[in-house]
Amino acid sequence: MPVSEPLVLGIETSCDETGVALVRGYDLLVDAVASSVDEHARFGGIIPEIASRAHLEAMVPTIERALATAEVTLDEVDAIAVTAGPGLVGPLTVGASAAKALAIGLDKPLYGVNHVIGHAVVDELVDGPFPERVMALVVSGGHSSLLLLDDTVHVTELGSTLDDAAGEAFDKVGRLLGLPYPGGPHIDRLAREGNPEAIRFPRGLTAAKDQAKHAADFSFSGLKTAVARWVEARQDAGEELPLADVSASFAAAVADVLTAKTIAACRAHDVRTLVVGGGFSANSQLRELAAARCAEAGIELRIPPIRFCTDNGAMIAALGSAVVRRGMRPSSLEIPVDSSMPLTQVLV
Ligand code: KG4
Ligand code: ZN
Repeated sequence: MPVSEPLVLGIETSCDETGVALVRGYDLLVDAVASSVDEHARFGGIIPEIASRAHLEAMVPTIERALATAEVTLDEVDAIAVTAGPGLVGPLTVGASAAKALAIGLDKPLYGVNHVIGHAVVDELVDGPFPERVMALVVSGGHSSLLLLDDTVHVTELGSTLDDAAGEAFDKVGRLLGLPYPGGPHIDRLAREGNPEAIRFPRGLTAAKDQAKHAADFSFSGLKTAVARWVEARQDAGEELPLADVSASFAAAVADVLTAKTIAACRAHDVRTLVVGGGFSANSQLRELAAARCAEAGIELRIPPIRFCTDNGAMIAALGSAVVRRGMRPSSLEIPVDSSMPLTQVLV
């Protein structure tokens, strides 16, 4: 391992995972995660105050665990990277405060970086440095964005969801079907036993009239409503719900739209590499269709292992490493957190 590359400590706290990781160059030394997801389950969604307190409790132990596992001491750290946004303000503030304290205490530069870009760039730790241009589809409970990355850190936002994120749509349909929160993985499991062609659900923003303005945007709320209507009609008729078929048909609609629009964008911008990141990239239907359609289109598909797709510290350390490598200017110690940080802004 080239010792000349700086050692970057990454801290992620934008939602319910406290992530701390150490990256040197493209090498991940350690990725420690503590999650408060179980504390939110009974509320059916993330409660920001509970998440903030969990981050506060987990922060120091998670940093200590990461350092101990990597057998690194704090004074060996060369730079601190932290999620500056987008995300929940309270949780973000806990991570930013910890990062600022470390930067001041160690007298090391601070880099406040973008969570969503981190979801894509983490793949450099797995599959190696990005080529000059990369298409990134970032899909999770909070985001569904299509981004064009030039030299990894120059971002063009091609499109995003106009309403629900893909994971959010799954969680809402999960609730509708009476599945536990979060519903995404349950629908995935049921869908594998169902017929994806059983019900023809709508494909949002794919009509010819949407191509001009919304070619790379997504919309899942119409689909969610269509599923709700279909389910209600069956319930009103006193019929049993064919859970597997509804799940499979719904999942097929989401995967179809995500992959069709992403591949069309790759073609339109002549990009040969696609990275898929975010917690929703665990979805089997998306993975299968993306693999098939990328192979057909001659596009290299990169999807990191699931533990790097859900929120983690490695994604922030990886992006920190990318901005340090390019000599980008560190953030000021006075930076705020930004719950709606623009996706074109990689670094504050
Ligand atoms: O990235 P993530 O862990 O947290 C957010 O930043 O949102 O993503 C979690 C989201 C949830 O909406 C969850 O239901 C969804 O991703 N999800 C899935 C699957 N695994 C996680 N949705 C569908 N199929 C899956 N296998
Ligand atoms: Zn995320």
